[in-house]
Amino acid sequence: MVTEATPIHTQGAAGGRYCVLVHGGAGNVPLERRALHVEGCLRAARVAAELLGAGGSALDAVERAVRALEDDPLFNAGTGASLNEEGRVEHDASIMEGRTLRAGGVCALSGFRNPVAIARAVLEDGRHVLYAAGGAARFALARGFTSVDEASLVTEAARAALHVAQSGQGPTGWAGGTVGAVAFDATGLRAAATSTGGTLNKRVGRVGDSPLIGAGTYADDEAGAVSTTGHGEAMIRLGVARAVAEHMRAGASPEEAARVEIARTRDRLQATGGVIALDATGRWGLARSTDTMSWAVAGERGELSGY
Ligand code: GLY
Repeated sequence: MVTEATPIHTQGAAGGRYCVLVHGGAGNVPLERRALHVEGCLRAARVAAELLGAGGSALDAVERAVRALEDDPLFNAGTGASLNEEGRVEHDASIMEGRTLRAGGVCALSGFRNPVAIARAVLEDGRHVLYAAGGAARFALARGFTSVDEASLVTEAARAALHVAQSGQGPTGWAGGTVGAVAFDATGLRAAATSTGGTLNKRVGRVGDSPLIGAGTYADDEAGAVSTTGHGEAMIRLGVARAVAEHMRAGASPEEAARVEIARTRDRLQATGGVIALDATGRWGLARSTDTMSWAVAGERGELSGY
């Protein structure tokens, strides 16, 4: 498979009745591993596009795509997520749909394989939007999710990255990664989802942008759907996902909206990251200020991918 380097911003017109766009996180993936990351994104986009083609909803599609990325140990989400300062996994995830603005999220959650599926259950339950740590685990168990041995979520690569950070041989903090998806379906519904292990060597209880509606994830059928990746603290301060959606509501293309907010994140807070977005008319776009952000788009009219 040939994978193309992507300019730091790019766009397209989905065409057709449905489309899903996924990212595998902004960062600096070494050259020799970039094709693997793109392939992971393509697999996730394809499985979600198949679901859309069979009449599934955009909400089902973004959950399905993000679950596939959570299950792929290459990415900083689900299995293979970055470890906190105690060597434990604490997941953050959220999901939103744009017709009725229902949303759900979980943060600082340990011991579950697919946090985005629990976020979806929070959305469906509807009483609250975000559950944290022990409360999120209790909610998940009450909804029939099975907890897993935390060790099964930890990869050798994640352990090695923590060792490098804690021994001072490499950077601590944001290590790239995070996964996300945005989609629209044949009924016109827009949806977005994001999932991460957060920053490498983070303090216990640190929560990033990914589970926060408006920072890491946003969807409104009248504007578009957005998922962000990058320095979570900066994304929270600037409310990047909602800001991108508001630019699209005002008529900006997804690529323009993403580019403006990634530039603002860099210029105001000297932080890096990436954004994927789909608007209300079916255009898609992305921007990043990092060296790489693997991505793939799949829909009725075919597929495209890059990094
Ligand atoms: N953007 C992911 C995080 O900072 O947790």
